[in-house]
Amino acid sequence: MQIISVNDYDELSKKAYDSFVKTMNSLENPVFGLSTGSTPKGLYELLVQDYIQKNQTFHHIQTFNLDEYVGLAKEHEGSYYYYMYERFFKPLELTEEQTNVPNGLAKDFTGECEKYEQKIQNAGGIDLQFLGIGVNGHIGFNEPGTPFASRTHVVELTESTMEVNSRFFETKTEMPNKAITMGIESIMDSKEIILLVNGEHKAEALKQTVEGKVDEKFPASVLQNHPNVTIIADQPALSKLN
Ligand code: GLP
Repeated sequence: MQIISVNDYDELSKKAYDSFVKTMNSLENPVFGLSTGSTPKGLYELLVQDYIQKNQTFHHIQTFNLDEYVGLAKEHEGSYYYYMYERFFKPLELTEEQTNVPNGLAKDFTGECEKYEQKIQNAGGIDLQFLGIGVNGHIGFNEPGTPFASRTHVVELTESTMEVNSRFFETKTEMPNKAITMGIESIMDSKEIILLVNGEHKAEALKQTVEGKVDEKFPASVLQNHPNVTIIADQPALSKLN
């Protein structure tokens, strides 16, 4: 694991942006794995700025999002599709063929999970996967205890995740209790992974990720087994590392 230490969130977003652009410009058909939440917002803003200023073109990229809530339509403001559409797909004018988010309203979830895996394979696999981390160590929505051998699947969210993520919903009752997520093995298949971590509230999770035992009880610890992982983290997030 390579760790890049940055001073603040702006620098973290800039470093993530540099990596995105480097991969985008070095491959003919780059495939990106994308995450949602607060952490990657700065990265997406920088990429959109670039597109508006005509510094980059994005017509040759393909994207796969990590996860989606079960039961939310694309138009729901709390859905990850909505988050991605407003911040990334729409401003970059990406086509529907270029972007992929698991369908939270699928009639047949087993089929939807298989289809998602197949689409990633057909695209040639993920070249660069961006990850955030939950305070309980989840990556995507793979909660503690998820088998490392898991592929895309439906999960029950833990109380703590529901509590933390309810900030994105007007009322707590709107917060879904299930999600569809790429599995740990699906994430680990990515050729390169960049984990973004900022803030003191993530310091313990980052310590466990880097220095803890590799254990299904702490999903992000699996990243120690990946040959090409970079962690970009700010000082508060790094504060508990030895
Ligand atoms: C969420 C998402 C993850 C995300 C993580 C951290 O629940 N499912 O994909 O990376 O938790 O979110 P945040 O960046 O808001 O702290």
